Amino acid sequence: MNNLEDKFFVWNTWTDMYQYKSQYNLLTEAEGLIVTNNRDKKHIDGMSSMFNCSLGYGNREVIRAINEQLLKMSAGTVFRTTTEPSYHLAKKLCALTNNHFKHVFFVNSGSEACDTAIKMVQQYYWNQDINKYKIISLKGCYHGSTLGALSTCTFDSDVEPLRLRLDGFVSVDTFISKDSVNEKAEVKKALDKLEECIVNEGADSIAALIFEPVQLSNEVNILPVSYLQGLKKLKEKYNFLLMSDEVATGFGRCGYMFYMEKAGFYPDIMMLAKGITSGYIPLGAVMATSEIFNAFLNLEGSYKNKLFRHGFTTSGNPIACQCALAVIDYIEKNNLIENSHKMGILLKQKISALKEKYHFISCVQGEGLLIAVILSEEYSNKFKPVELSYLLRDFLCQKGLIVYPCNDRGQAILIAPPLTIDETYCDRIAAILDSGFRKCHQILINKTGEAYYEIAAEKECKR
Ligand SMILES: Cc1ncc(COP(=O)(O)O)c(C=O)c1O
Repeated sequence: MNNLEDKFFVWNTWTDMYQYKSQYNLLTEAEGLIVTNNRDKKHIDGMSSMFNCSLGYGNREVIRAINEQLLKMSAGTVFRTTTEPSYHLAKKLCALTNNHFKHVFFVNSGSEACDTAIKMVQQYYWNQDINKYKIISLKGCYHGSTLGALSTCTFDSDVEPLRLRLDGFVSVDTFISKDSVNEKAEVKKALDKLEECIVNEGADSIAALIFEPVQLSNEVNILPVSYLQGLKKLKEKYNFLLMSDEVATGFGRCGYMFYMEKAGFYPDIMMLAKGITSGYIPLGAVMATSEIFNAFLNLEGSYKNKLFRHGFTTSGNPIACQCALAVIDYIEKNNLIENSHKMGILLKQKISALKEKYHFISCVQGEGLLIAVILSEEYSNKFKPVELSYLLRDFLCQKGLIVYPCNDRGQAILIAPPLTIDETYCDRIAAILDSGFRKCHQILINKTGEAYYEIAAEKECKR
């Protein structure tokens, strides 16, 4: 593949295609934690594909389950039929929440799950002739790139091109773990701000609050349990619904099957995707309580049609559902939740030790196997318009580790390897980070970041 244009047949997601020409990476094979490209270079996948490939690649038990299901029933719909895998998966997901949730609406991705949840909440009130429609989101959130999910988004650069945001979306400052010196006071401040927003907007108009218990795109901002419990108190005081987005945190990523287990309560609606199938097949889900579900029943005497006017052709695809059942089974049988917790602590310790050596690291934060290395603004600003996080990502990739560069609010790289990781791989990741950081340190001293990009891009174009 020599021609530059050949590389652009695929228009990559969330990718600066011009800059990408110097980093082009055509992946061909993967096994365990290792992905191989067409030049036979091997990398440790330190971001589990897109934070979803939680079992690593090539898991034979999951592949066998998929193959068997393909032979048994290769397609299916949940439009007025229920397939066996969708039935068993819905039942299993509810059981994982001790049947707090009793109903599951299947979709194909995290964005679809969040859009679905937003529509569900709005129709829930409409069905009851209640005029609550506003959705509050927390600043720094990411709930997906479809129109409804993106309307919750607070990064101007993502919303600006749309020229519009759906009506009734409001966002509010939240607790920021990175800057927290006095957690108790800052939790109170953030909850006060939220309450002020609810009162100003008019509590009678607020339908729901959508939140991620750990904000992945906001440098892995961890909302403390006291803050999450504060949300519950406000929900009860002002009578709105809570929607927890567990697309990234669900299925063990942060050391819990669902992060809300740690908070000690479940919300009214919970959105799932990513790790549900370890990324082997697209699937998402929205879990709802009976209270929500019952408001959609056309009971005798209903004067309006209340059915949920929503769904997708491949919602509840039987192959995807069977795959999810096998993934959950594997997580449970192999204690991967505990492994995520244990290996997360170890990996975070090893990365934190590097902070002492490299001054451009301002903080390391995360929970389970979702870790952010936050880069100091002082250094990252030196390199504008070249992003320090992208420079680091490049160096690490050359040294055989794929990480996620993050440049929305500040600059960070995220590390989220598969939950199957062991100590040896934690050591290897830490060693590669050390050598990538060292190279970055030299570049920072010589201030040659921009030159690096120009040379790399030029070399790549000539290939
Ligand atoms: C918390 C959260 N919600 C929703 C989404 C959107 O999911 P998808 O990319 O599957 O549409 C993401 C994706 O990164 C996410 O992290």
